[in-house]
Amino acid sequence: MRSGLAGSSYTYAAELQQPVVETNSRVCQTLSELHTHLGEVRAELVSVAGRLGIGRRADGFTKPGERIARRRQAVFAANCATCHGEGGRGDGPAATGLEPPPADLTDNTWTTGDGSLQAVTNTIEHGSPGTAMIGWKGTLTDAEIAAVAAYVKELGR
Ligand code: HEC
Repeated sequence: MRSGLAGSSYTYAAELQQPVVETNSRVCQTLSELHTHLGEVRAELVSVAGRLGIGRRADGFTKPGERIARRRQAVFAANCATCHGEGGRGDGPAATGLEPPPADLTDNTWTTGDGSLQAVTNTIEHGSPGTAMIGWKGTLTDAEIAAVAAYVKELGR
C-alpha cells in the first residue's frame, strides 16, 4: 500500500514535470539563439567602432567628433609625420633623400591605388614594396589603421 502510493505519486510528479522540462529546454534554446545574435551585434559594434577609430574602450560620448578627430591626428603625428610631414605634404624631417619621396597626401593624387578608403587602408597595412613606406599592420592596431586611413582621406580632400 505504502509503496504503491509512493509509486503513483512519483508517476504523477513525473507527468507534471514533463511540460516543465519541455518549457525549460525551449527557454534554453531561445537563450542560446539570443546569445548568438548578441555575439553578432557585438562584433558589428566593434567593427563600426574600429571604422570610426574609437576603439573598444570608448568613454564619454559628449563630443565624439572632436575625440575621433584628435585620435586620428595623434596616430598620424606619432607614426607618419616624420616622413609625410605634420600637414601631410611629404615634407617631414625624414623625407630628405628618400627615393621615391614620401607621398604628398594632400594633393588627392595617388600612386599606390585609386585613392579609395580601401586602397589607402591597404597601402597603410601592407606598405609600398621597395620604398620607405612600410606596412603597419601588426605595429598599429586595426582601429589605429582605420583612424589614420580616415585621416589621410581627409588630407586628400
Ligand atoms: C619612413 C618614411 C615613411 C613613414 C614613416 C610613412 N610613410 Fe607613407 N610613404 C612613404 C613613401 C616613401 C611613400 C611613397 C611610396 C610610393 O611612391 O610607392 C609613402 C606612401 C604612402 C601612401 C600612398 C600614397 C599614394 O599616393 O598612393 C600612403 C597612403 C601613406 N604613405 C600613408 C602613411 C601613413 C598613414 C603612415 C603612418 C602610419 C606613413 N605613411 C608612414 C614613406 C613613409
